Amino acid sequence: MAQTNSKSLKPKAMVTNLFSNIRSYSKSNSRYSSSSVTVATTSLAGKVAVVTGSSRSIGAAIARALGAEGANVVVNYANDANAAKTVVDSIKSVGKGNAIAVKANVSTIRGGQSLIDAAVQEWGKIDILVLNADIMGSKMLTDVDEGFFDSHFQTNVKAPLFMVKHAIPHLAAPGGRIIFFSSSLTGASSVLPNALCYVASKGAIEQISRVLAKDLGTRGITVNTISPGAVDTPSFRAGKAQQLMDSISKQNPNGRLGLPEDIAPTVAFIASPAAQWLNGQNIRVNGGFVV
Ligand SMILES: NC(=O)c1ccc[n+]([C@@H]2O[C@H](COP(=O)([O-])OP(=O)(O)OC[C@H]3O[C@@H](n4cnc5c(N)ncnc54)[C@H](OP(=O)(O)O)[C@@H]3O)[C@@H](O)[C@H]2O)c1
Repeated sequence: MAQTNSKSLKPKAMVTNLFSNIRSYSKSNSRYSSSSVTVATTSLAGKVAVVTGSSRSIGAAIARALGAEGANVVVNYANDANAAKTVVDSIKSVGKGNAIAVKANVSTIRGGQSLIDAAVQEWGKIDILVLNADIMGSKMLTDVDEGFFDSHFQTNVKAPLFMVKHAIPHLAAPGGRIIFFSSSLTGASSVLPNALCYVASKGAIEQISRVLAKDLGTRGITVNTISPGAVDTPSFRAGKAQQLMDSISKQNPNGRLGLPEDIAPTVAFIASPAAQWLNGQNIRVNGGFVV
């Protein structure tokens, strides 16, 4: 590479010089030549996506967003087959992606494995795994018992971790995508004491996500976490008076709660080839609720 004394160059000349150096470096190193660079795309055509808990709320919006980009989506539910069918039908009606509904309780290791197996049986592989389903209990320390604590770590930490483990042999490498779900509450000083077990379990999944990014990143699989702020879903509304909902809405710069459709596009982007360099990150999709 030609050496130039940068002190003798004006700013514009320095930039021109920098780019010409990069170009000549690219030409001299075939690994970085333009012919070997893959054009990044946000299309998910031909990809297979599994989204846990996707018959309604945030999971359903994610399933629809992935389907709209052309993915074949496994829509997972625990109880409501009709809701899952509605999501499947709406994905098919767009005419880009495909979808099937699969009943599986992903709170258990066995249930998670059966969901992975169903996806592989249908489409032969998995490209995108979104671990969205969880439980969101609310108890102060004085009321927390062992069962309550264990149920949060079972559903929000242990089951997703072992689901990832079971998926690995079927996951595209390179190109696979694992997306965990946490909450912006892990970084909020306004966190309430009754969020103890929920937030503790979400903190654990964030750390699992970071470490797996290093592990699976060696195979070209990215691992990231999405951390929504307050999103208007039935589980968020549960047990909250309208006054509290209004006060939470006002804490957002936009003056409203998030909607599932506010979260889904970011997930679709992370799932895409365009996000191949995005790995090990915790992305707070919250409209500025927690900054
Ligand atoms: N909403 C918020 O304000 C908020 C804020 C921060 C983070 N988050 C995170 O975002 C994610 C989604 O939250 P959400 O509010 O959309 O949840 P939600 O409204 O409770 O969504 C429930 C969905 O998950 C399914 N599901 C529940 N338990 C399941 C299980 N054991 N196995 C399989 N499917 C199951 C339900 O299916 P059935 O109807 O068939 O049971 C339904 O499709 C969670 O990880 C949550 O922690 C949400």
